[in-house]
Amino acid sequence: MFTDKTNAHITHAHRGARGYAPENTMPAFHKALELKAEALELDVNLTKDGVAVIYHDYVLTRTTNIAELPALQKKGEKTGIHDLTLEEVRTLDAGKWYMENDPFEQIKEGTVSKETAAGFVGTRIPTLEELLAFIKESGMLLNLEIKDQTEIGDQSHTIVHTVLEHIRKFDVKNQTMISSFNHDYLKTIHEEMPEMPLGVLTEERIEQPVEYCKKLHAAAYHPCRRFTTSDDIKALHEAGMLVNIWTINCEHELHTFANWGTNGLISDFPDRARTAIQNVSSS
Ligand code: G3P
Ligand code: MG
Repeated sequence: MFTDKTNAHITHAHRGARGYAPENTMPAFHKALELKAEALELDVNLTKDGVAVIYHDYVLTRTTNIAELPALQKKGEKTGIHDLTLEEVRTLDAGKWYMENDPFEQIKEGTVSKETAAGFVGTRIPTLEELLAFIKESGMLLNLEIKDQTEIGDQSHTIVHTVLEHIRKFDVKNQTMISSFNHDYLKTIHEEMPEMPLGVLTEERIEQPVEYCKKLHAAAYHPCRRFTTSDDIKALHEAGMLVNIWTINCEHELHTFANWGTNGLISDFPDRARTAIQNVSSS
């Protein structure tokens, strides 16, 4: 299980190893495996025809070449992943932007070679099926974040049911934890699959995190790094809760959070997170 003691201090590669490859794509997931991240963190959204895909934003401009494809711009610059069918989504290039934008300056620094970056061109947005086949084969843990669909018209938690169906089909329940900023989704998951470990994602400080997480039957609290203190972590641990913190890239900060016993360091650079955990365990 994700929550086993053997997984007490691990790295979660945020959107895959997105420092080194285009986020939420198969190259980023393969890179995370190569860097020995124990878990992948990634984001699930739905296409117009209800297919679960791995994609972070609602609009497609930041990480695809939709600007070059007028026929797909159904809502102009605001065209979202949910405005296109899977067939349309699969025509998008979700890798070229990494080479063009060098989002973490890894190409400039020479950590990612120009040839490697050029190899990302033509990368497609993965389906959840494709990703789960990789999880099954690699044995990696999966911190699956379900993106909130409320504002884009889904009030009936369709995405939750779709994700759970996939998890059953691929038989990866034991490798998975599900997190979401939509805490009503967590309630639905608990009703449908009570054994699934849940992570309470929050970008604002929750005053009584232990009580809050307990009410949601959550196994873990997933706060933003900005407001999390060592006392919070201690209190959550005393209550038997895991704490997985996002998104930490700075080496000093990674060391601090590792030193405080954070269970999951969610990082765009899982190799840095791994080093921090190793340094603390060997000191
Ligand atoms: O799961 C942690 C983190 O991914 C939450 O924020 O916006 O990167 O999905 P975001
Ligand atoms: Mg996420």
